[in-house]
Amino acid sequence: MNSIKVAILGFGTVGEGVYRTVETHQEELAAVLGKKVEVVAILIKNKQKDRGIGNEVLVTDDFEEIMHLPQLDVIVEAIVGREPAFTYLQRSIQKGGHVITANKEMFAYHGEELKKLAEAHRVSVGFEATVAGGVPVIQTIQQLLNINRIKKIEGILNGTSNYILSEMRVNGQTFPEALKAAQDKGYAEADPTNDVEGFDAFYKLLILSEIAFGEKPVWESVPREGISSITEEQITQAENLGLRFKLIASIQLDGEKVIGSVRPTLVTESHPLFNIEGVENSVSIEGDIVGRITLQGPGAGMLPTASAVIEDLIHAVLETKLPEAEGTRRRSLHASRDQNRVQNWLIMPQGEVSLHRIPSSSVTEIESGYFLQANEQEISALRRQNRSASIFEVLGDYAVEKTVKVYL
Ligand SMILES: NC(=O)c1ccc[n+]([C@@H]2O[C@H](COP(=O)([O-])OP(=O)(O)OC[C@H]3O[C@@H](n4cnc5c(N)ncnc54)[C@H](OP(=O)(O)O)[C@@H]3O)[C@@H](O)[C@H]2O)c1
Repeated sequence: MNSIKVAILGFGTVGEGVYRTVETHQEELAAVLGKKVEVVAILIKNKQKDRGIGNEVLVTDDFEEIMHLPQLDVIVEAIVGREPAFTYLQRSIQKGGHVITANKEMFAYHGEELKKLAEAHRVSVGFEATVAGGVPVIQTIQQLLNINRIKKIEGILNGTSNYILSEMRVNGQTFPEALKAAQDKGYAEADPTNDVEGFDAFYKLLILSEIAFGEKPVWESVPREGISSITEEQITQAENLGLRFKLIASIQLDGEKVIGSVRPTLVTESHPLFNIEGVENSVSIEGDIVGRITLQGPGAGMLPTASAVIEDLIHAVLETKLPEAEGTRRRSLHASRDQNRVQNWLIMPQGEVSLHRIPSSSVTEIESGYFLQANEQEISALRRQNRSASIFEVLGDYAVEKTVKVYL
């Protein structure tokens, strides 16, 4: 029986997970594909490390050796950063291999180029693992797009930030303490900037925008804020009001415009993301026919991510033509938030607050600050007037009582 030959670029958490899963799930793969799947080559940087890889596999630090293999059906890319990953995938496609990537940063930058190149070479590009690890969000959106128009996607896309926020709330930790705990558990990198400053969620949001709406917004104009300035006092204040902080990435249709943001947001108990705790990811998708669907699961880790990669491998081999985002007519995207849409906000002041230009009927004073309804433009002005105040959007139904008392 002819086998499907696979090369894996990178043998870290993801690459190793894919290799081990192929090893342990040979029977299942053969049953679905009618062929054996064989990992024939693995690309790494450091050849000295002992990795427990079978002798029949070519382990190399030279990509050219992989390109010279006589048969290569699928190339799985699980290395870090834009380059050389992008170049390697271009070369792989030009050689006629299906490609699958877990590399969200590279794919946020170069996904469209890769998809176009793959189309020209009649191969597929799988990228399920780039967003929310094991949660099958990409395939769900592609499936929904057969008939639905996606109106909004909102999610917790970074497990590390969510873990830190949960630790701060449940165990009363400071941000540095919770970050250290996340690093000790292997959730956060030594340099956690991408996670805690919202870049990781931002890359994922761009990938989702592309499949749901057919385009990416202008990057520079998407508000992107992380969680590093959230204090334990603010977490307690929110908790006392029945609210929880979440790092929410959202992208949605507002009329014909698409608007998006990544920022710490307060959610109420009625909101589907309220109970997502720890390293979990969750994505809520709103379609015009189906309504709201919420997916939840492990957003990272060896086996959940391998599961997403193997699903892509099966699709690639079976040549299941995934529905392209056809219903997603190309639109001109306006990445900044709609300036006129009125939303709910909570102001946590430090000292006096000036609410100049906000109608008093829109403001409810509470012990620890103010709830108000305002649009983005008004909030931007408020932020300029009150530089030391923290201002957060509130998602979900919330009835404000003027008598709310918050004790720190
Ligand atoms: N970890 C997760 O749970 C997860 C989930 C979803 C997506 N991702 C994405 O998947 C990718 C891989 O993540 P990871 O956690 O598996 O990373 P990792 O543990 O740091 O492993 C990276 C691997 O890539 C190899 N590598 C790095 N640069 C290379 C180069 N220039 N040439 C050849 N090999 C190179 C490294 O080789 P050496 O072993 O020799 O150093 C290592 O084996 C990243 O883009 C990440 O964002 C990760």
